[in-house]
Amino acid sequence: MYEILVINGPNLNLLGLREPGIYGSMNLAQIEERLRELAAELGVGLRFFQSNHEGALIDELHAGLGRCAGAIFNPGAYTHTSVALRDAIAAVRYPVVEVHLSNVHAREEFRKVSMVAAVCAGTVSGFGWHSYELALRAVTGILADHAERQNRDERLA
Ligand code: DQA
Repeated sequence: MYEILVINGPNLNLLGLREPGIYGSMNLAQIEERLRELAAELGVGLRFFQSNHEGALIDELHAGLGRCAGAIFNPGAYTHTSVALRDAIAAVRYPVVEVHLSNVHAREEFRKVSMVAAVCAGTVSGFGWHSYELALRAVTGILADHAERQNRDERLA
């Protein structure tokens, strides 16, 4: 069974309380519960991690090497500033899907820049907590495609 890492960055521990008009009224534990239900349906395992600290997020991405097949990651405000997170995602090589609850392109100019987007498999932004659901489906789909391609190549070899 694939293990997928679900990583949340700074201030996302305050979901539910934090600017609910922008980020919705569900807290992180409730979102994680919904993801658990979807993971059971998709047949994948999840590992959850949240930190307000850039280095801890990098350590968790590194720890996923050899353990996790892929990740969905909301880097919060670090999205717009962190070259170190971008380098960590590029280094680990498993597919990472960038997630945002809000539509970052419809907000302030500084939120339109993502340091991590170019090294992620793709970005889901603007669908509230459903962004996480869509990202989980996306990363699971990518892994299924990889496995199918590998099986086909092995059959042809
Ligand atoms: C966010 C968008 C970021 O710009 C912001 O700093 C966050 C949350 C989102 O999920 O919409 O903390 O990543």
